[in-house]
Amino acid sequence: MIEPALTVICYSAFVIYATWSVFSGTNVVFDSYVSPFFSTWLGFGLIRVPVIGILIPILAVIPLGLRGSCYYYRKSYFRSFFWDPPACAIQELKRGRYRGETRFPWVLNNYHRYFLVLSLIVVVFLWVDVVRAFTYQGHFFVGLGSVVMLVNVILLSLYSLTCHSFRYLMGGRIDRFSKARAGMLWQRATMTLNRMNPLHGAWAWYSMFSVALTDVYIRLLMAGVIHEPRWIF
Ligand code: FES
Repeated sequence: MIEPALTVICYSAFVIYATWSVFSGTNVVFDSYVSPFFSTWLGFGLIRVPVIGILIPILAVIPLGLRGSCYYYRKSYFRSFFWDPPACAIQELKRGRYRGETRFPWVLNNYHRYFLVLSLIVVVFLWVDVVRAFTYQGHFFVGLGSVVMLVNVILLSLYSLTCHSFRYLMGGRIDRFSKARAGMLWQRATMTLNRMNPLHGAWAWYSMFSVALTDVYIRLLMAGVIHEPRWIF
């Protein structure tokens, strides 16, 4: 009872906060920091095309689509929000009405692999933002915000790289590694991902919190509510 309730509260809070942040009309940027809901590549730095920044609410569909169609999230929101089924080996509540993923909106879950590929591109953008967060006016710089952004992007990368669809992209499509070109390499990559996969649910939670907390942290800096320790070299 406690776990489903906590799941409902946390997921709802995240969706509400993320939607508010993206549509708030404020570009969450402070010195060389930028919120993971935004990007220096999209209108705030490297490519100064403000009109592209307007796309950010649209691009937010990518991470939300990834999480919404993620196997781990599917399991937890079906159990927590719909109680259908509430757990393994328990009879479904709406027997006979389940049509699998053949009808809207669940049919969108079939696009998970595409959301993953797009999200990997977003993660590359976020890594560039992190590199920029360690430079200030041409100097190497370390601030608490740089570390916060680094931890966030590591967690997001772990969440994306332990995705089931990523395992398929790496090696799941190969029938016989011994016959495939660079088969040993693909096999090693797949085995490594297999070992990491059981933690996918944990990375899903940690990265969800870290995205929101990174945004909150930069907003607090912008508002002058907090001042952080910094070192410029
Ligand atoms: S299964 Fe969770 S992100 Fe792909």
